[in-house]
Amino acid sequence: MLAVKPENAFHEGLEGIVAAESSICLIDGKNSTLAYRGYDIHELAERSNFEETAYLLLAGKLPGIPELEDLRSKIAAERDLPEGVVRLLGTFPKDAHPMAVLRSAISALAFFDTESEDKSPAANFRKALRLIAKVPTIVAYFERMRRGLDLVAPKKDTSWPGAKNFIYMLRGKEASSVENTMLDKYFILLAEHDLNASTFAARIVASTTSDIYSAASAAVGTLKGDLHGSANTRTMESLLAIGDINRVDVFVNDTLLNKRKIMGFGHRVYKGPDPRAKDLKAMAKALADSNPGQAKWFAISEKLEQAVWEKKKLNCNVDFYSASVLYILGIPVDLFTMLFAISRMAGWTAHVLEQYAHNRLIRPVSLYTGSAGRAYTPIQDRT
Ligand code: COA
Repeated sequence: MLAVKPENAFHEGLEGIVAAESSICLIDGKNSTLAYRGYDIHELAERSNFEETAYLLLAGKLPGIPELEDLRSKIAAERDLPEGVVRLLGTFPKDAHPMAVLRSAISALAFFDTESEDKSPAANFRKALRLIAKVPTIVAYFERMRRGLDLVAPKKDTSWPGAKNFIYMLRGKEASSVENTMLDKYFILLAEHDLNASTFAARIVASTTSDIYSAASAAVGTLKGDLHGSANTRTMESLLAIGDINRVDVFVNDTLLNKRKIMGFGHRVYKGPDPRAKDLKAMAKALADSNPGQAKWFAISEKLEQAVWEKKKLNCNVDFYSASVLYILGIPVDLFTMLFAISRMAGWTAHVLEQYAHNRLIRPVSLYTGSAGRAYTPIQDRT
């Protein structure tokens, strides 16, 4: 029985609801375009770098040379983890879910930040940079700890941008410049996407005036879901399960027949192609061409993209070609979503700062569908 009717129409999954004003990111789902602070995503992927893009998202404009140098040196200086967080990481089970590890480690960072409860805009900006700087170290340390390898300390000078420093910490040796550029481009493409579920979660937390670490850990917990950030890992698992280009059609038929989702396809906002998929597909192809031993992952992906379009008229999304890009870069499959988080931390923190600057508590209402007017019976009289 419907007891209470909200005044406004119900939109399942908040589809189409405008829930915030924001000047950070514009998605045009009909025309398949995406821009950060007015700059087209393709141009940023081609010409920018992750640090510059993070500055753009956080500060609202592209930096000049001194501003970019300043940001780079602040991020590089903040890469170390507090000793307490390193110790804590060492106590986590080696088979813990990587995103659960990241969620907990981010939460723990707050214990060791003397500014964690300082709500001033300047302190919040510093904490945003701290999060962007420290998350890659958490990921690399967790990976090396679970494999029983010595930790590789982050580089602290500005000649080691985030992507290059991250692969170095992960592998213990420097990657090729092509690999560093590819990862940097991946970080640009994934850095921001308006009110996606994890960013919305972060803004909800910020709207209560809770701290930025709480907002970031809520965002990580939200990104962890298969319908959101973990779709990149699930996509790679599908590609590995298919294993051979000749098995693509069987996989698609079987998945659709069993009414399961094909991971890496579909999108709430884009009704045409996801613009980021174009850049990621080109990156996956370039990596496949230069790594013939791994080329089949691109070939299977391309065939899968065609088959899903033919059978279901669904476009692939950002996570689809991300999977083969990250796999060919040698990133362990279950860490893919952590890499998404490394990048998206820039967008999350930009939104949190924006929410703090123009705050009103986010508090929607539900459409009540439960019982009403029931008489209370003492426990001994209940049947
Ligand atoms: N595989 C198969 N069918 C899919 C699909 C997919 N990946 N994505 C959407 N569909 C179908 C749905 O089954 C539904 O069909 P129906 O109307 O016959 O029931 C229709 O398309 C609409 O999908 P719906 O799940 O209602 O759309 P949504 O806006 O709620 O969800 C996603 C969007 C992204 C959650 C959804 O497309 C999905 O689950 N994709 C796979 C996970 C993924 O890649 N997530 C990363 C997103 S960037």
